[in-house]
Amino acid sequence: EGTPEPPELEWHHSGPFGTYDRAAAQRGMQVYKEVCSSCHSLRLVSFRNLTDLGYSADQVKSFAAEYEVTDGPDDAGDMFERPGIPADRFPSPFDNDKAARAANGGALPPDLSLIVKAREGHEDYIHAILAGYSEPPADVELREGMHYNKYFPGGGIGMPPPLFDDQVEYSDGTPATVDQMAKDVTVFLAWAAEPKMEARKQTGIGVIIFLIVLTGLLYAVKRKVWSDLH
Ligand code: HEM
Repeated sequence: EGTPEPPELEWHHSGPFGTYDRAAAQRGMQVYKEVCSSCHSLRLVSFRNLTDLGYSADQVKSFAAEYEVTDGPDDAGDMFERPGIPADRFPSPFDNDKAARAANGGALPPDLSLIVKAREGHEDYIHAILAGYSEPPADVELREGMHYNKYFPGGGIGMPPPLFDDQVEYSDGTPATVDQMAKDVTVFLAWAAEPKMEARKQTGIGVIIFLIVLTGLLYAVKRKVWSDLH
């Protein structure tokens, strides 16, 4: 009984030296764009941040322009739509939470910017949710519009299974299985939640090396200073 632990996976970006797998993150961005973004916002990520993932400034510009963003008010006090620019954030698919709930049978699709950090189990949990749908066990009765996912606390989740095999076509030829897409979008969302992780780890390593050198230096100095006292 109870919610099972998500399977533990190897993530290229875990551990003190881990870095984001750029190819996986790029594929994951495609999954987010083509699948998740119809329900979930990513309101803390600007298009220009995507250069971190290996895109050129021009690629980011044309990517941003594929989105319609709301701007304004203009001189007449009205809001208006215009194509996105790199400084914009990913726009939300719904005008507000009420509209988002209305489109999802009452359940609110959370913003995904920090979801990898916010949920216990982190990457493993996000992957497990996306790849973990199944038929409900015989003794489980689901409310209308709910779906069974054993990794979601309680088992009944308002999100329909979002991924199907071959739902996206990867330009690098990677087979788009549910498991692959779930992993890739998780890497993208891990990056979204902590884009400066690599710099943080590098600083940490530099600090440790500095402290080791300093310790040796202080020890040598101590030996020298006290050398005539035995
Ligand atoms: C919830 C991810 C696609 C609707 C969630 C949660 C995550 C997530 C991590 C939170 C689960 C939790 O609270 O622990 C994704 C990803 C998607 C995707 C990565 C793309 C691969 C979609 C789509 C829809 C949708 C296409 C709408 C058709 C929802 C709703 C919830 C939710 C309504 C709230 C469920 C509840 O609280 O019962 N999603 N999602 N999601 N998602 Fe998605």
